[in-house]
Amino acid sequence: MLIRNLSMAVVIAAVTMAAPAMAIKMPLKSYHKEMFTNDDGSVECSACHGDSKRYSFPDEAKCISCHGDKASLAEETARPGHGAEFEPNPHDSLHYGQDLSCVYCHSEHKKPKVYCNQCHEFKYPDMKRK
Ligand code: HEC
Ligand code: HEC
Ligand code: HEC
Ligand code: HEC
Repeated sequence: MLIRNLSMAVVIAAVTMAAPAMAIKMPLKSYHKEMFTNDDGSVECSACHGDSKRYSFPDEAKCISCHGDKASLAEETARPGHGAEFEPNPHDSLHYGQDLSCVYCHSEHKKPKVYCNQCHEFKYPDMKRK
């Protein structure tokens, strides 16, 4: 019993300490940093994560509310033509259409990975990764 309570205390201490440390370990991309940072340096986590208590991957509805619906996004990145000289439109693809969630490719706190590149080797030089 003594040991059990002791380990509980350790868990509680770890959780309490993790909360402020987490904010430090959650860097934002340069293109988002300013707009989500308050004057006192705190970050508006809820702007992407909503009111959920435990943060996981954000609901893409948040992204869409600022960036426009998927159809217009797909139009924005439409290619001037077809053929090997054009890398395919990431927002409207052969296999998935416009269905992929934004966060499959646009990570926020870590280096983004293009979902397609599990199988392909697209370069996508215009994608902002930092
Ligand atoms: C409160 C509004 C807002 C929310 C929410 C938001 N963004 Fe942004 N985002 C912006 C603005 C403003 C910019 C900078 C201007 C621009 O390039 O559109 C930006 C920039 C970007 C860029 C770089 C665009 C470029 O020019 O290459 C990407 C990619 C992006 N956001 C993806 C996302 C994703 C994915 C989410 C959801 C997890 C998200 N954003 C949530 C407003 C928002
Ligand atoms: C399959 C990967 C992938 C997914 C899923 C994805 N994107 Fe992108 N996104 C890219 C790539 C790659 C670019 C670089 C632009 C290009 O190649 O045309 C980009 C560019 C952008 C840009 C800049 C557009 C511009 O005009 O240059 C914005 C904003 C953006 N994405 C937002 C989003 C949002 C919001 C979602 C979800 C609705 C999303 N993306 C889903 C890969 C993806
Ligand atoms: C601009 C949108 C945005 C903001 C603001 C934001 N996040 Fe995130 N968060 C994301 C995205 C996108 C992911 C998906 C994984 C990734 O990109 O790293 C994520 C994932 C996470 C995860 C889960 C990590 C994992 O790999 O399972 C945690 C925890 C988290 N965010 C915490 C925070 C905290 C704390 C803040 C505020 C200090 C914050 N986020 C602010 C977009 C955002
Ligand atoms: C799970 C693996 C996988 C993923 C993930 C994947 N693809 Fe594919 N893709 C394939 C296979 C397999 C083919 C068929 C190859 C062939 O027959 O040439 C293919 C073919 C294609 C083709 C036509 C052939 C070509 O290379 O011109 C395009 C375009 C394409 N994929 C785009 C995408 C895009 C964009 C994404 C991400 C949004 C994506 N794929 C994600 C496996 C994948």
